Amino acid sequence: MARFQRHAFVCENERDPANPRGCCKHKGGTELRLAMKKIVDEAGLKGCVRVNVAGCLDACENGPVVVIYPEGIWYTVPTPADAEEVAREHLVGGRVVDRLLMQPVPEREKKPAP
Ligand code: FES
Repeated sequence: MARFQRHAFVCENERDPANPRGCCKHKGGTELRLAMKKIVDEAGLKGCVRVNVAGCLDACENGPVVVIYPEGIWYTVPTPADAEEVAREHLVGGRVVDRLLMQPVPEREKKPAP
């Protein structure tokens, strides 16, 4: 049984500004997480819905990145207003926000899990 009804991970990974992959921290990751937490708290869902900091989720080119479980829905969330919408609609209401769904990330070499 899942510990939380929904669980959001918000990337706040930080890289050197010269790194070509960029990073979600420099695209506002912290502000996005705080905006989402505020909506969840206001809805009285603390303890049922969790919003956590994440390290790199390996979709940096499409950041700022948020993923929500148990559905496994990935979002690109450009602004705090967008983060509030994702929190209000998906985390609280259970409705996917189609317009913010993340586009496919470039394939990188991966080894299959054993
Ligand atoms: S830095 Fe956010 S997904 Fe990699």
